[in-house]
Amino acid sequence: MNENKLTVLLGQMTLDEKIAQLTQLATPFFKGASDQGQITGPMVNMGIDEEVVMNSGSVLGASGAKEIINIQRTHIEENRLGIPLLFMSDIVHGFKTIFPVPLGIGCSWDLELTEKSAEIAAKEASVSGVHVTFAPMVDLVRDPRWGRVMESTGEDSYLNSQFARAYVRGFQGSDLTHDLHRVAACVKHFAAYGAAEGGRDYNTVDMSERELRETYLPAYKAALAEGCEMVMAAFNTVLGIPATGNKKLMRSILREEMNFNGVLISDWGAVKEMIPHGVAEDEKEAALKSITAGIDIEMMTATYVNYLKELVAEKVVDETIIDEAVLRILELKERLGLFENPYRGADEKLEQEIVMSAEHRDIARKLAVKSCVLLKNENVLPLNKKQKISLIGPFAQSGDILGPWSWLGSKEDAVTLREGMKMKVESSQLTLAKGSGIETVSEEQLHEAERVAKDADLIVLALGEDSEMSGEAGCRANIKLPDAQLKLIQHLKKLNKPMVAVLFNGRPLDLHGVIDQVDGVLEAWYPGTEGGAAVADLLYGDENPSGRLSMSFPFSVGQVPVYYNHFNTGRPKGAPDAQVRYVSQYLDIPNDPLFPFGFGLGYTSFFYSEMAISEEVMTPDQPITVSVTVTNNGSREGEETVQLYIRDVSGEVVRPLKELKDFEKVVLEPGESKKLTFTLTEPQLRYHHSDLQFESDPGKFIAYVGPNSKEGTEQSFTLVK
Ligand code: BGC
Repeated sequence: MNENKLTVLLGQMTLDEKIAQLTQLATPFFKGASDQGQITGPMVNMGIDEEVVMNSGSVLGASGAKEIINIQRTHIEENRLGIPLLFMSDIVHGFKTIFPVPLGIGCSWDLELTEKSAEIAAKEASVSGVHVTFAPMVDLVRDPRWGRVMESTGEDSYLNSQFARAYVRGFQGSDLTHDLHRVAACVKHFAAYGAAEGGRDYNTVDMSERELRETYLPAYKAALAEGCEMVMAAFNTVLGIPATGNKKLMRSILREEMNFNGVLISDWGAVKEMIPHGVAEDEKEAALKSITAGIDIEMMTATYVNYLKELVAEKVVDETIIDEAVLRILELKERLGLFENPYRGADEKLEQEIVMSAEHRDIARKLAVKSCVLLKNENVLPLNKKQKISLIGPFAQSGDILGPWSWLGSKEDAVTLREGMKMKVESSQLTLAKGSGIETVSEEQLHEAERVAKDADLIVLALGEDSEMSGEAGCRANIKLPDAQLKLIQHLKKLNKPMVAVLFNGRPLDLHGVIDQVDGVLEAWYPGTEGGAAVADLLYGDENPSGRLSMSFPFSVGQVPVYYNHFNTGRPKGAPDAQVRYVSQYLDIPNDPLFPFGFGLGYTSFFYSEMAISEEVMTPDQPITVSVTVTNNGSREGEETVQLYIRDVSGEVVRPLKELKDFEKVVLEPGESKKLTFTLTEPQLRYHHSDLQFESDPGKFIAYVGPNSKEGTEQSFTLVK
């Protein structure tokens, strides 16, 4: 079917059919779904009938080739024009083979492997019948109290943009129409969902338009530049108006400026939520605001089907606006080839063969290895295979290491830390105790842990947050490890043995009570299906840790938001002429985070030398290069992530102290050196000025090259325009 045929099809649709096409319902509503028991309840509550379901355009949350083929077949038979459904699901960090949570993936700084993980997720999802994934989530995050930081790649807009592109490439491939093992991507949550006040989910977002454009929009833009098919609107307010009903955000910025012509979907129930937000009196007004702003698909509420027809009859809504939305949905169906082959990649046989294949698990293990970040190591790691180790803690043999948004992953399939470690050593070398629950601890558990650890040479503590403590609606005001686990650490500390903590969690934590008590800390995030195997590879030194933080670890929650690319203020702490008191500081804690963006240790060390810039003057036609020699001066092979930052010393508006502009990963043998050269061009120095123009400032700049956002060497240059 071509464009013209789609217009003809649109012409054959009644207004009711068109409006139903704009409605997305969850799987249980549909005939052919295995879980049909729940239909009457929600259907009645939403005020819709079977006619709407029969004509609706898309399904939320279905998976499994058999079920999807069933639903699709019935649907095509039952709707008058035989229009196929779009099947959309949240395939965020893997389908059944679960990769590390995106924040872990962010710490890998490995775009190739990330793309591969998205390709695998797309393959598993598509043979199971899924057409669209609600990913990537590219919301920039600065507040670890927010549960959804685990779903983001971190605090930097450049790095997030690179990941956004890698994800979209992996999900969609280069020929979505013919490559049946890819899925359409839906970038979310547009826009700035990650800036919720106080780190509380669904809360107000308020910032200047300049900041929105400068810091928050680039990653969504990057996803679209890579051809991302869909966009999901955020729950929050943007510039005072909920994104779902925000005409300026959706029509002017997204559609006109960013040239987005694809399908725009609301988040779950968000159209109706404009009522409690206080910008719609009732469902009718919510429908009006949402369609006017340009939301094509209403997810899981029924204001469109219940009120759009009336609004058209009253001439408040022009039918062409509905036609445009329907056409965009039909076009996506066409691009996915659904009119020719409504079942697309769904294939029960292939599903059996490739889902969770050894090859997929192998990539999951590699990415998990890359995503763990070694935060502390006082000569305790790597472990020696001859050492007697006691593995203690609530995550010692827990399968709850997949993390939120892994709804199809199964904890039973996860390699636990104990299983991973058992693959490395004789069983006599490894003893085990639970030590505590996540949030509870008993005297018996402490005694047992102490008894088991007494004979050990070293204690590995497997600690963290259970997966319910982060993810959507998983916000915490206190971001320390729960007291029960801190108590376990203190108890074992008395034994005076070396201790290493492995952390399984979804957010940068306040590590007091851990970092000061133990000799080594490995941040494993939720590492996914192969998590235990990957962590054991790192602990025993079969792999060398190479992860670098993509989000700062606060010194304490009182610093939040704390991020590397902040402004200097007029009274920066530590300036040569600074006063003792009247400077921008806390009286009780440092300004700096505990671990900065870009930080991570490994089992070797790197030495930076000979930083040089090619010219002291850059012009728009004459880029400069920044070079540095990196030497592995340790005793084993290792991977370094070399980071290039700049500072615009005097801007039209104030500029961050450092901004990441480029990075390169390099693997070096012991004693090996490599010269790396980065090119810096004038467009890389541009930013949004006070009049929102995107341009650069002539004048002085500083380039920094180093292993993280805090350390490094610098050279200055001047931009002449
Ligand atoms: C989340 C989205 C998700 C949607 C559908 C919402 O609650 O905010 O990220 O895609 O549900 O599952």
